[in-house]
Amino acid sequence: MKVEDIKKIAVMGAGDMGHGIAEVALLAGYKVALRDIEQRFVDRGLSRIKESLDKLAGKQKITEENKKAMVANITTFVDIAESVKDADFVIEAVPEIMDLKKQVFQALDAAAPKHAILASNTSNMSITEIAAATKRPEQVVGMHFFNPAVLMKLVEVTKGGKTTEETMQVAYNLALKMNKVPVRVEKDSIGFVYNRINAPAQILLSLMVEKGVAAPMEIDAKMRKIGMPMGPYELMDYVGLDVAYHGALYFADKLSRDYAPPSWLKAKIDAGTLGKKTGKGIFDWSKGRPEIDLSKAKEDFDPTALIALQVNEATKLLEAGVVKSPDEIDKAMVNGGGSVIGPFQLAKGIGYDKLAKICEDLAQEFDVKVFEPTETLKKGNI
Ligand code: 3HC
Repeated sequence: MKVEDIKKIAVMGAGDMGHGIAEVALLAGYKVALRDIEQRFVDRGLSRIKESLDKLAGKQKITEENKKAMVANITTFVDIAESVKDADFVIEAVPEIMDLKKQVFQALDAAAPKHAILASNTSNMSITEIAAATKRPEQVVGMHFFNPAVLMKLVEVTKGGKTTEETMQVAYNLALKMNKVPVRVEKDSIGFVYNRINAPAQILLSLMVEKGVAAPMEIDAKMRKIGMPMGPYELMDYVGLDVAYHGALYFADKLSRDYAPPSWLKAKIDAGTLGKKTGKGIFDWSKGRPEIDLSKAKEDFDPTALIALQVNEATKLLEAGVVKSPDEIDKAMVNGGGSVIGPFQLAKGIGYDKLAKICEDLAQEFDVKVFEPTETLKKGNI
């Protein structure tokens, strides 16, 4: 199969990611089938797509005619088999629960045409394990978009244990057709690139709140002052605390207990305060984006700690051959979030020895093994 053979894309799940991916496919000129488990979910996804297209039309990024054509190109479904029966490419974006993903892939495999490629937008989970639920694991691939999908450029294209090179190429080229920046993830690896590299920093951010070292407002204010478009806690709310929580559980199960979610996060999940999507999370979103008071910035917090943990984790991916080069990692980190410069580029300016020392100190101070510097970081021969 070639990317030119793709005419229709089906997206499973119409939530934050699903509706955004469907919109990206529409913008690239594809016919789209959008499916969720209840009509009200697909209706909400469709209205969010229309709102976003209105914004783009308002800014003359698309014409009113383009917009009408795109709206005519999308069909919504509740029935999974109906939604994929004539799809050439399927992208799954259902909640991050492995058993659910497996059920969905089983159903997709049974109903999608034989030639169709089945992609998962999972943030963290094993593509090989998801693919094993199908009889076509060579046509299953990871295709991880970032939130908001319409604006964020990165797509991680991940090779599962049985994914063929042809499938990788089609997914990679599809991401290019969607005007995205794809990065090849050569080995199926928990959290792929972006989320894996940020995961130790998430532990630190969680521990700082847990131990009362800093309040989210103080850190977010500091990060906004140094040029981040969104502080890390606001970003957690924006993406969804449920996503952070499920991710932490998965990392804890597969990589290290150090990743287990902190009690304050569990309390928020139990209370149903999941961030932007419920109007309340770490911050209050009931009146729109939270106000971050820059005067509250914790000036003695050194963001180099976050960079050190990122670079250290990135060296683990290089050691394991998950990504080909430091440049590819920088490309992923710049295009997945709001950073203007990648961790390795930053590390060159700071010095690998200094970063290794910071990791060593953090590992001791917080008693977290994941923070310990790798041999590659200590040697600095990157
Ligand atoms: N559709 C169309 N336009 C949109 C939009 C949407 N869905 N969302 C925002 N915009 C537009 C706004 O209209 C605005 O346009 P304007 O500049 O012409 O007025 C522009 O984007 C900027 O939006 P805002 O003014 O509301 O706010 P910001 O300037 O802060 O931008 C942001 C918002 C793009 C979300 C920015 O804050 C940002 O880059 N944040 C970081 C996001 C990030 O890091 N995402 C990755 C998360 S990790 C992830 O997704 C992985 C997963 O596995 C968990």
